[in-house]
Order: sequence, then C-alpha cells, then structure tokens
Amino acid sequence: MRICIAGGAGYIGSHVVRRLLDGGHDIVVLDNLATGHRESIPSQAEFVHGDVGDPLVARKALAGCDALVYLAAWKAAGESMTDPFKYSRNNLVNTLAFLDAAHDQGVKHVVFSSSAAVFGAPKSLPIDEDHPKDPENYYGFTKLEIERVLAWYDKLGAMDSACLRYFNAAGYDPEGRCIGLERNPANLIPVVMEVACGMRKEVQIFGSDYDTPDGTGVRDYIHVTDLAEAHALALDHLHAGKGSFVVNLGTGEGQSVLEVVKQTELVVGRPVAHRIVGRRAGDPSSLWASGAKARELLGWVPKHSDLRKILETTWKAYQANGLG
Ligand SMILES: NC(=O)c1ccc[n+]([C@@H]2O[C@H](COP(=O)([O-])OP(=O)(O)OC[C@H]3O[C@@H](n4cnc5c(N)ncnc54)[C@H](O)[C@@H]3O)[C@@H](O)[C@H]2O)c1
Repeated sequence: MRICIAGGAGYIGSHVVRRLLDGGHDIVVLDNLATGHRESIPSQAEFVHGDVGDPLVARKALAGCDALVYLAAWKAAGESMTDPFKYSRNNLVNTLAFLDAAHDQGVKHVVFSSSAAVFGAPKSLPIDEDHPKDPENYYGFTKLEIERVLAWYDKLGAMDSACLRYFNAAGYDPEGRCIGLERNPANLIPVVMEVACGMRKEVQIFGSDYDTPDGTGVRDYIHVTDLAEAHALALDHLHAGKGSFVVNLGTGEGQSVLEVVKQTELVVGRPVAHRIVGRRAGDPSSLWASGAKARELLGWVPKHSDLRKILETTWKAYQANGLG
C-alpha cells in the first residue's frame, strides 16, 4: 500500500514509519516538524514538509495514497486546559480539513491516534472499549470528537477507520533506529530520564497516599514498538475489508511511579533524585487497559512492554543522543 503518515517525524510516528517500511509499504511522511525531528525520517520514505492544515501540502502528501495514518496533534493534556483554542485549531480543525483532503484524494482507510484520555476518571479496571467516555481534559475531548466523526464517515460510506487508543506510550526501537527524543516532555519516563541525565533537578511525584501498593499512581506503559505493530495490523484489517473498529492499546497491567523511578536507577546505575509533592487535580490513582479486544480482533500481543525493556531502550536512545 501507499500510505501517508501525518506526524511521522514524531515520537510514535517515527516508529510507525519504520514498521510500515519493514512491511514493504510505500511511505509518505507529512510533518511540519513542530515537535518532530527531520533526522527521524528514513531515506526510504518520501518527506513532505508542511502543515496538515495547508490544502496544497495535503494534496501533495495524499496523492495516490490508499491509506492514511494520522498522528499529527498536540498532546499535552494540561496545556489543553489553559490554551484550548490551540487544541481546537490543530486537533479538530486541521484534522477535519486533512480528512476532507484524504477523502478528495480517494483515501479509503484511516488509522487515527486516539488516547486513553477519552475515558476520563476510571469507573472500573481494566478499562475496556465500552467504559464510559467522559474526558477530564480538553485534549481528551478533541480525540473523542474525531473518533465520533470517523464513526459517522464510516456509517456514511466515506472511509473506514481504526481508532487506536494508546495508553502511556514509552520505550524506543530495540534496534536503535529511532532515537528522536521528545521535546519538553510532560510524561513520566522521559522526565525520569532527563533527571538521570542531569537535565532536570528531580522527579516530582504527585501524591504518595493513593490506594495503590506503594501509594503512588499506577499507569499502563506500552512499548512504542508494540504500538507500531498495532498500526500495521490495523491497516491489514482495514485493507482486507473487515471494517472499522476502535481498540484500546495497553498491557492490561500497571506500574507505579515509584517502581518506574527505582527500576530506572537500576538501569542507569545511579540514583534518580525524586521528591513527593501533593496530588495533582484530576489524576486518577490507577489506570490500565484491557487489551482483550485488540488481541481478539487483530491478534495483537505486546511483546516489548515489560518495564525493564522500556527503560533500557529509552536509556539507550538518550545515550545515542550524547546524554546520560
Ligand atoms: N505519546 C503518548 O503517550 C500518546 C498517548 C496517546 C495518544 N497519543 C497521540 O499520538 C500521536 C503522536 O504522539 P507523539 O507522542 O508521537 O507526539 P509527537 O509530538 O512526538 O508527534 C506529533 C507529530 O505531529 C507533527 N505535527 C503536529 N501538528 C502538525 C501539523 N499541524 N502539521 C504537520 N505536522 C504536525 C509534529 O511535528 C510531530 O512530529 C498524537 O496524536 C498524540 O495525541 C500519544
């Protein structure tokens, strides 16, 4: 297939690009490099530098494509609450404009990067696809809105789609081919790595009195290589005419903040400064996904997502960038 990957220079996108090139597909990466890295795009992929909201750029990137993998978005939940218009512009307006352009170009299949943020506070664990959707931040709302639009486009016969709800993406390509680091990360593992490298003073742990084994928050960390595999399986599923679907992508278990810090200390061989501070508003104590539907529908089984491997591959990426 010829596949356009919007946001393919970013953290997850660069891993998806590698996986789909390995699968023998023709790849066009479209990215404005706002948070992505030019060096993350392999020479075997075509690169269109520009914004998804620019109709000429969109037409160029989508010409002749059978499928679209759409990762381009802003992703900081906290920022989406203080600057919602920024998120409306990119995650809603630009995304809808690009889907429109994809339809004009005859693209039939779309794989969309959704998020666990569509669910909001967990009412039960593990979180399966039928769990109530009640986003607690504007970012999660934008993802849910695009899921709903895609459901309508499917119903109206315009295009079929796979919405992949990632839980906490983490880790780097075990073969060391993708090393583009996230800029100004807000998520735990890169923050812990930046402390280990001396780029930050300490890890702030938001709350130690949760109802979890060690009192710190528990999250589901899924290796980005496993996520990339899910994109390949999703495209095969759509291409085979098996229809649109929405799945959660997580491991089915969680790790605590303190476990992540302690394991990182073992991996990097030095202490990682950390300090307990107060809870953050809106942070649930525990969050993990059921991966059962993805397994049944796609045969997707995470193979790289044990915490040790996630941390080792991440540390290697930091070292490959001359850090650590
Ligand atoms: N990282 C996670 O844990 C996580 C979890 C759930 C969902 N997601 C979603 O997955 C997707 C990818 O996330 P990521 O972690 O790789 O983030 P990222 O910031 O590394 O990647 C996003 C890419 O999209 C590009 N981009 C953004 N807006 C653009 C625009 N208007 N035009 C062209 N290019 C644009 C950026 O330059 C970047 O390369 C996002 O949609 C994000 O919301 C990520």
